Parts: sequence; structure tokens; C-alpha cells
Amino acid sequence: MLAAVCLAAVTAMSKDAIPINEVEANVPPYTLPELLVDAKGRRITTVGGWAGKRKEWMSLIEAHEYGAVPAGLHRGPATVVEMKPDALGGKAVRKRIRVPLTAGPDPVSVDLLVYLPKDAKGPVPAFVGLNFAGNHAAATETDVPLTRGWMPKSAKGAVDNRATDAARGTESEAWPFEKIVERGYAVATAHYADIEADHPEGWKTGLRGAVAPGGANHVFAPGEWGAISAWSWGLSRCFDALAEDAAVDASRIAVIGHSRLGKTAIWAGIRDPRFALVVANQSGEGGAALSKRFFGETVLRINTSFPHWFCGRFKDYNHATDKLPHDAHAVIACVAPRPVYIGSAEEDRWADPKGEYLSGWHASPVYALFGLKGLPQEAQPPVNTSVGGHVGYHIRTGKHDLTGRDWAHYLDFADRHLRR
Ligand code: GCU
Repeated sequence: MLAAVCLAAVTAMSKDAIPINEVEANVPPYTLPELLVDAKGRRITTVGGWAGKRKEWMSLIEAHEYGAVPAGLHRGPATVVEMKPDALGGKAVRKRIRVPLTAGPDPVSVDLLVYLPKDAKGPVPAFVGLNFAGNHAAATETDVPLTRGWMPKSAKGAVDNRATDAARGTESEAWPFEKIVERGYAVATAHYADIEADHPEGWKTGLRGAVAPGGANHVFAPGEWGAISAWSWGLSRCFDALAEDAAVDASRIAVIGHSRLGKTAIWAGIRDPRFALVVANQSGEGGAALSKRFFGETVLRINTSFPHWFCGRFKDYNHATDKLPHDAHAVIACVAPRPVYIGSAEEDRWADPKGEYLSGWHASPVYALFGLKGLPQEAQPPVNTSVGGHVGYHIRTGKHDLTGRDWAHYLDFADRHLRR
């Protein structure tokens, strides 16, 4: 016990000793890998040429950062376990869908909370994303059941890593269901820990442990999936469940996420091309922020604090981001030609707002290949101003959070790209 406490203290100390830069003038020069140059050094100028290059980027991003999802995973069918015809004061139909992620009698499964606009004339576009603190925290309706599984300590109202009634509605600013539904969109969310609890041992009782050949004794190879890959695979299963609902237009489902779940949304969006639009809110390091740019959180720091998020091989770059074969601009470019929106917050220096913007800017030439506009210029726009074509961006005043002000931009962006 004492040894464990000492070890924890040492880890905490070493984490805080990791150098961090938050001064723009102190960002050293860095070089990004060329997005549009093929293996023979020739410039790629066609959509066909990009298709091959995208495959290369995807393999690199998978093998060096998030890790590969095992092939041939099996699971049972999704079931609607509850339907409330008059939710949100009569504006919505609420459903809870149980989405199994594994096969067998007691599967790892996700409780997907769905709000559908009530008087829609036909199948509607939808947003889906994972939440941090449980569906009961995202919702304001008090009859949404408390999430029973593991809760992060940071979740308000969590006691001993479990939800309590005090948590109800505490994440509702991040999930303005009523506003989204009023705008004509369905919205669906699930607790990320339904898939895997967010700590280094969480995989043992979550999806990764359930399907690993050695179960909880499995030793991950360097390129095998980390938690972000597991969460994003879970998002694709949420997509499957939504796509089965006749009220939802499966060709217009956007994936959204904040922070670590923004990293997850991007990876889900590029792994699964069925997502029609991707929103990464303040996704930071390991998300939209450039890793080779020394500002805010670093690869070393994220791998030290959260060793379970990425694949083992990502740690090879702890002290050598210059050797990382890709960077976040390649990650963002892999969404193309689908629309992607990157949201930053001014006070969220940890996530490196400029690095988040620059990945979208450097991904823009790929959009240009498709005849689409990306971001307009290399310099970030003024605060609270949304810019861009198929790559959208804003930097909101305020702190690290997903708020109604962010959603207003995301809904406008979705209106431009998903409305018929
Ligand atoms: C930490 C972490 C970030 C992450 C954030 C979050 O700050 O360092 O990488 O995005 O948590 O998920 O809120």
C-alpha cells in the first residue's frame, strides 16, 4: 500500500516536472510532414491521388497514435428499452437504446439516450457524442435513470466513482437537447465509461478487456488500441443504432465531442466514413492540436497523465515529436471531403488553440483538391467569430468547456452542410 502511495506521488511529481510552454514567442520552429506528397516525392494534385495518400495517413495515425481496433468483433442487436413520447415538454420523443458492444449473455453495452424532434416531416439529421458524467447529468429530465457504471471523480455529484442524484443536469450546458431538437436535429449521447472506464486499469472491465484474447491478462502490442480507439469504436456502434431508427437520416449523422471526447470524435469520424460531419470541441493534444508545436499539453505529458488513451507506440514520441510520422493536420485532412469543425476557447491554453486552428489551416489544401473551401487564412480569426467553408473554426472567449455558444456555431455549420 505504502509502495503504491509512494509510486503515485513520484508519478504525480514527474508529471508536474514535464516542461510545458504557454508563451507563443517561445515556440521553437517545427516542421510538419507534407500532406500531399507521395512516396516518390511527387505532389498529389488529384482526388484520386489523395485517396491512396489518405490510406497511408490512416495507417500511420492508427499505428503510431490511437492503435488498431481488433478485426471481427461480434455483438448482439440494439434494443429500445424505453420510449417517452412527450419528452422536453412535448417537443421531443425520447428513447433509450441499449447498444451491446460484445456478444454473449452479459455484454459490455452502452445506454444511448436519444431525443428526436417530435413534429419532423421526415428523417432528420442527428448529432451523436459521448458524455463525461452520464446521461442523467447531460439531461435536465429527472426521469433519466442514473448511470450505474464507473464515474470519473471529476464528475460533479460522483461519490466513490458512482453517480448520485446530485449529478442530475450538471452537464446539461454541454448538451442543450431542447435547442438542438428545436433546430430540427436528433441528438444522442452515452456515457463514455459505458465503453471503458477512464483510468489505466479501466480496459480490464470494459470493451477492450472483454474482447482481448487474454482477457484482463492481455498484454497490448505497441499498435493495439488504446481507450480513445475503444471509445470511438463505441461511437460507431451508436451510429449503427441511430441509423436503424426510421426517424433519423443515416446519411446526415454528425459526431461531436469535447476535449478527450473531441479526440475520440475525430478518430471515430475518420475511422468511420459514415459520419457525415465531425465536430471537435477543444480537443487539444492528441486531437486537433499540432503535436510538433511545443505549446500547451505535450505528447510526453499526455502519455504520462493518461497512459491508457493512446497505443503503446505513441510513447515512442514522448521525447521525439519530430519523429512522429504524421501530425494533427493529417488527422483533420482525413475527414475530407466531409465537413469538419474545430472549436477552441481563448483561456484553454492547455489545448493550444492556435495549434488547433493550424491543423485545420494545413488540412485545407486537401479540401481544395475537392474544390471545397477550408479555412481562409493562416492567422486565427478574432474571438467569437466563426470562419471557414468545409473546415469550420471559432475561438470562443472563456474557458475549456462545451457550451451553448459553441453549439450555436455547430448547429449553424450543420445547417449549412446537412440541411436539405
Ligand atoms: C486533460 C487532458 C486533455 C484533455 C482534457 C479533457 O486536461 O490533459 O488532453 O483533453 O483533460 O478531456 O478534459
